Amino acid sequence: MRSVISILDLSAEEINQLIATAKDIIAHPENYWDKCAHKKLATLFYEPSTRTRLSFEAAMLELGGSVLGFSEASSSSASKGESVADTSKILSCYADIIAMRHPQEGAPYVASRNATIPVINAGDGSHNHPTQTLADMLTISRELGRLENLTIGLCGDLKYGRTVHSLIEAMSRCGNIRFVLIAPKELKIPSFIRYNVLEKYHIPYTEVESLEEAMPQLDVLYMTRIQRERFDDPWEYERLKDTYILDTKKMELAKERMCVLHPLPRVNEISVQVDADPRAAYFRQALNGKYMRMALILKLLEEAKANPIREEIDTTDLEYDRVCTNPKCISRTEQELPQLFRCTDKAADIHRCIYCEQRA
Ligand code: CP
Repeated sequence: MRSVISILDLSAEEINQLIATAKDIIAHPENYWDKCAHKKLATLFYEPSTRTRLSFEAAMLELGGSVLGFSEASSSSASKGESVADTSKILSCYADIIAMRHPQEGAPYVASRNATIPVINAGDGSHNHPTQTLADMLTISRELGRLENLTIGLCGDLKYGRTVHSLIEAMSRCGNIRFVLIAPKELKIPSFIRYNVLEKYHIPYTEVESLEEAMPQLDVLYMTRIQRERFDDPWEYERLKDTYILDTKKMELAKERMCVLHPLPRVNEISVQVDADPRAAYFRQALNGKYMRMALILKLLEEAKANPIREEIDTTDLEYDRVCTNPKCISRTEQELPQLFRCTDKAADIHRCIYCEQRA
């Protein structure tokens, strides 16, 4: 039995198979109407969501299954102090698969180590959002007909933007990908992506502050929201929130064949006039999310049926004698969790928290 906590829990080959399944679901939905009959999905959302939670629920319903869960922590026993570990053990008694969103980084990982059913990370803090990446990849494949030979611009909040982190991890495994990272200096990508992915695998990337400058090179423009909820300092958010606004004038600088993606929700970073541009793919992207979540639920339930035993973690290179300094790490709020670090670069003596990947 397997969970998906990071997009790297799926191989490139498995992602291609999920994309193929999603395309088959789109072409022949009737073949999937009862694939999950009598199965239950638990959506445990400790943080607000429209697309992810409801597309997960729509996905399970369209597969003939049922859904249960909560959409805010305050309506669950988390408000009484119940831990993520205990909640996942309890939900394993009631459901067949869990989708979890949590503001603390690493919370779905903790759930996966305690549940006896598969857990899917539906977004953890500023860390990862692997099923958004699956939606993004199906969208790029459907819009442009390929996942290779692309220049991908990522614009906005690259520091706290979990969708950006997962997308870079996934697309770095595709052939001949180049990234243009468009962000103010305060919102550049974090070190676990810069060093663990881009530098480690020699992925070409440039960093710029001007969206106009980047526009003509791009095959994909991935816009993101500056996220008020991730800032400790509200004035910093006010100062940065309008840094990038994609409008029809900027779209004139773009290639004729390209696509604009956005995980949504948007605030004002894409003007509504851009919606009418055929290159604006973000609403189609939200629909693709449902198909990819259907494909993923099917895959994980099939695997759990074939092998119901939870995979053990690799304890090689684990260390216990450090404390995570990331206040958004689940190990900081759930005190009973052991502090665990993994050596990710022996030569440079770099150790990262196994929950949130922050460097010790
Ligand atoms: N893209 C995304 O995660 O949207 P929600 O926050 O509405 O789920």
